[in-house]
Formats: sequence, structure tokens, C-alpha cells
Amino acid sequence: PKRVRTRHFSNAKQHGIPITGLTSYDMLTAQIFDQAGIDFLLVGDSAGNNVFGYETTLPVTVDELIPLTRAVARAVTRALVVADMPFGSYETGQTEALHTAVRFMKEAQAHAVKLEGGVRSHKQIKRIVTSGIPVMAHIGFTPQSEHGLGGHIIQGRGDAAEQLLEDALAVQDAGAFAVVLEMVPATVAAEVTSKLEIPTIGVGAGPDVDGQLLVWTDFAGMTEGRVPRFVRQYANVRSVLTDAVHQFKSDVETGVYPGPEHSYE
Ligand code: KIV
Ligand code: NA
Repeated sequence: PKRVRTRHFSNAKQHGIPITGLTSYDMLTAQIFDQAGIDFLLVGDSAGNNVFGYETTLPVTVDELIPLTRAVARAVTRALVVADMPFGSYETGQTEALHTAVRFMKEAQAHAVKLEGGVRSHKQIKRIVTSGIPVMAHIGFTPQSEHGLGGHIIQGRGDAAEQLLEDALAVQDAGAFAVVLEMVPATVAAEVTSKLEIPTIGVGAGPDVDGQLLVWTDFAGMTEGRVPRFVRQYANVRSVLTDAVHQFKSDVETGVYPGPEHSYE
């Protein structure tokens, strides 16, 4: 299949074709999502929660994400692989940001990077883009600043809608090829989408955006406990696996497995 490039994103917006994205942290899920035709795979710093077992994304490091990104990049034949730049790897300035982006492109063969922040990340985005590395921006609720934002709170409500639009225009001006809108009211996301030339990718931003992104462990029912309101659970992989494990354990304990058909003569 023809590889997805950043121009696929602008073409899709122009023609009203919805863009699809999922997170992926390993070769097996990357293969499955790529073969199903998902347009881009985000190796999110949500790996902090879903791979490394941290409570937030804050402790995640570049060194932790690089091997995961490399595995995902090796697995795909079509999807665009976006590497998420973790907290502490770009905030201090353009040089640090470019250094991190280059590491993901060079050491992990990512196709693009993502970083959080609108106006505040304008310089960093511009520096990375002018070096030839595509950037996906991320505004609205930005989990790396959850302590500053005061928790998992919907962004862009009321007067804050103006700031969200400013952030969106800033990342577009900086050269981002797409922007993730996380947890913003549907009407505000729709307005931002209509005012931008670059596509908007919603995660908890309602239907009137140019694409949708979900964390795979949430959408597939792999996560333990509650998932956010915006997540639709398309499968219940956790219970399928749990049943399989119980069955295996009980078959071994009762001598049902392995049978003759699983044994060598
Ligand atoms: O890390 C991640 O999974 C993300 C998406 C939720 C936008 O940044
Ligand atoms: Na992230």
C-alpha cells in the first residue's frame, strides 16, 4: 500500500474524508491497526500509563519511548507513525525540542513527532518543522500539564474558547500539519476546525473535526476501570484475555492441557 504522508492529511480535509488514528506501543497492535487501514499510529506518552504503569505521563522519558516507537515503525507498511515528545524533552527551547525530534526520527524511524501546547510551543514547532520534520500539535487538555490545569478538565469552555482558537492558529502558523484537540466542547472544536486550514484530530472533541484518535487500550476495552466519557469501547479484550487465562490455568491444573494432539510422539 502507498504510505500515508502528511499531504494525505490536507487532502483528506479538503475532500471531507475523515482521518483515523490510534495509539500503539508495540509491533503486534501496530500490525493489526496498520493492516486495518488506520491512517496514523501515535506512540503516545500514554505508554506511561498503558505500558510502564505510571499514574501519569509525566515520568515518561525519551529513552523509554524510542524502543516502542522503533517497534511500531518497523511493523507498519502504510500508516504514518507519530512519536510523542514526552514531558521535559522540549519545553526549555528550540534546541532541546529539535534535539528530541531528531532522536525520534533517527533512532526510531518515526515519520513525525507530536508535542503539547499552542502559543507556548510555537517556537519549538517552527524550529522542528523547518528542519524537515513534520509536527502534529496538541492543544486543549494537555495531559503533561495536568497539574497546572488542575486535573482532567475540559478545555475551551466559555471565554477559554478564544484562547483555544489562538492556540490553534499559532500551531498552524508554526507549520504543524495537523492538530490534536483533546477534551474540548464539540461546538468549540467545530469552530476551530472551520477556521483552520490544517486538519483537526479530535479526542473527546465531538464529531465536527477532521479526524478521530483514541488510545487503543481504551477503545479495545483493555484498560482496567473507568474510561473517559468520550471513549467508545469497541471490544472487550481484557475480558477475552482474562477468560483465556483462567481456562489455561484450570486446564493445566485438571490435566486437560496438554492433550495428545499438543504432544510430540
Ligand atoms: O499520549 C497519547 O495517547 C496522546 C493522545 C491521547 C492525544 O497524546
Ligand atoms: Na500524549
